[in-house]
Amino acid sequence: MQNFVFQNPTRLYFGKGQLSQLNEELKNYGQNILLVYGGGSIKRSGLYDQVIDILNNADKKVFELSGVEPNPRVTTARKGVEICKKEKIDFIIAVGGGSTIDCTKAIAVGAKSDDDIWDIVTKKAAATGALPFGTVLTLAATGSEMNAGSVITNWETKEKHGWGSPFSFPTFSILDPAFTTTVPKDQTIYGIVDIMSHALEHYFHHETNTLLQDRMVEGILQTMVETAPALVEDLQNEELRATVLYNGTMALNGMVNMGYHGDWATHNLEHAVSAVHDIPHGGGLAILFPHWMTYSIDENVSRFKQLAVRVFTVDPEGKTDKEVGMEGIKKLREFWNSIGAPSKLSDYNITEDSIEEMADKTVIARPTFGNFKQLNRQDSIEIYKQSL
Ligand code: NZQ
Ligand code: ZN
Repeated sequence: MQNFVFQNPTRLYFGKGQLSQLNEELKNYGQNILLVYGGGSIKRSGLYDQVIDILNNADKKVFELSGVEPNPRVTTARKGVEICKKEKIDFIIAVGGGSTIDCTKAIAVGAKSDDDIWDIVTKKAAATGALPFGTVLTLAATGSEMNAGSVITNWETKEKHGWGSPFSFPTFSILDPAFTTTVPKDQTIYGIVDIMSHALEHYFHHETNTLLQDRMVEGILQTMVETAPALVEDLQNEELRATVLYNGTMALNGMVNMGYHGDWATHNLEHAVSAVHDIPHGGGLAILFPHWMTYSIDENVSRFKQLAVRVFTVDPEGKTDKEVGMEGIKKLREFWNSIGAPSKLSDYNITEDSIEEMADKTVIARPTFGNFKQLNRQDSIEIYKQSL
């Protein structure tokens, strides 16, 4: 285990009825509020009206930015920055999934900068501050509600990059499982895969003495394996929604990965796919992760064996470590198939023709990537080919 410093400043309000806490939170901020949301799910669910009522009762002046896309675009973030600067916004509220929250992070940081937000996303310029912002989460997946990360797409250049800064943590996040019961089946499945993928990204590292961290990450995976099949059959179930919601936050708020660095190559491979083809993040991960695992197993077979035995209950008796590890990968694929996740790039009509272009995108920011197994452009091509 390496030395580490841990701080997470986001105040979390979790559970039924917690939206009422917004009244108290709003007292901490000025009059001008920017409400950021996506394509309209919050209007259909009634959450928009609830938030507007609270804002009106608090006598706030409300500006709106709607239409944040899944895989949020830099052009939308720029619109938000413009509103913040023009209207002297004091506080931003994001109501939605990871895309709405990620876009809000870019707006909050862009509002306090003279640099274009894409320069900050691509690390040509540094974040120097941010407007304060809070979130009301409606989809369990990214963990963006309690981390400083954000993923922004530039559709003109077909690039999608993750970035973060010490200024881009939400000041608070409100998580009521009831707000996630309207998430349709496909998005629920993508969220489940994303949460499990965050756990898997953490799991593959070469650090020693991470006993508690391993058990916490395995706990997230085991809980998802136990809960997800029931949830996809019972989307209105608030208890199952609550379990998955809490798992999603814990998988990427920094709590389970102190003292080591996970791999994160599969996320880079997926971001390149969705940069070119605009597919859902969790759908891409479901396709790519088992292939990355098969490609990388020889890097440290014992990690794969441990995962197979502890999470996927593979019996190691009479088998080599690699056989056990491979059986675990097969069980992960079968599990994701069983809940309805995609398994091939061709499920999204992606063919061999775009492999070179996607591989180029994986190495735009740096020539190699992945902390557990270092990959280059050629490795990306191999993994994409196996994923067709
Ligand atoms: O836009 P609306 O109308 O709100 O509809 C959304 C969208 O169509 C819908 N939705 C959300 N909550 C709903 C709902 N529909 C009905 N009822 C509800 N309660 O779901 C669709 C997808 O929403 P989106 O926000 O795009 O999904 P998600 O939360 O999975 O976010 C995906 C984005 O986050 C990035 C991904 O790359 C992708 O761009 N990531 C962000 C991370 C982070 N900030 O830490 C880490 C992740 O690894 C990931 O890369
Ligand atoms: Zn993810």
